[in-house]
Amino acid sequence: MAKTQDEMKLEVAQAAIEYVVPGTIIGIGTGSTANFFIDELAKIKGKIEGTVASSVASAERLKSHGIQVFDLNHVSEISVYVDGADESNKYLHLVKGGGGALTREKIVAAVADKFVCIADESKLVPYLGKFPLPIEVIPMARSYVAREIVKLGGEPVLREGFTTDNGNVILDVHSMEIMEPTKLEQQLNNIVGVVTNGLFAMRPADVLLLGTQDGVKSMN
Ligand code: 5RP
Repeated sequence: MAKTQDEMKLEVAQAAIEYVVPGTIIGIGTGSTANFFIDELAKIKGKIEGTVASSVASAERLKSHGIQVFDLNHVSEISVYVDGADESNKYLHLVKGGGGALTREKIVAAVADKFVCIADESKLVPYLGKFPLPIEVIPMARSYVAREIVKLGGEPVLREGFTTDNGNVILDVHSMEIMEPTKLEQQLNNIVGVVTNGLFAMRPADVLLLGTQDGVKSMN
């Protein structure tokens, strides 16, 4: 019988436990795949010092398991960051932010020594951009940023009724075939009013654990 997407997410979450370094602080992503990882981490919570969460939702889930969550400003080292993605190419450049947590995710990934991305096989794509690229924007800059994105060839759509954990809005950019992820990540960062864009190319994942019908495949 074919595995479901959730079964593949669970398998990669279990595989990611191998990357947990005992006695250290673990960075925790956001989303349904990251939730599976949190639940697996709970089983070995006595072996880690604690966690830093990339969203309020993940922090709440961690705390519900009795796992310590530190403020990033009180932490200087994170051994590994484990998170899902909306898309990955074979270079482990990612699109993230489907859950709107991209800014805190990028910050925690930047601090971590190693970024382990966990995803089911549907997330591996030849080119990034089919999944609308999320961009977190300061609310007053929303229209200006949208006009600048149109100049870059994208079609920005405001994520209705959504406010990020940082009090900002999200523009989801459609119709972009992203051939040069690093270049586009920098171009988007240069638009005044953009807080973060969902391209993780300048700091890609170090390892991609991909859940497939034939088991977990590791790419790096
Ligand atoms: C949240 C994210 C998630 O990692 C991404 O949306 C994947 O989510 P899921 O594991 O539910 O498919 O970037 O901001």
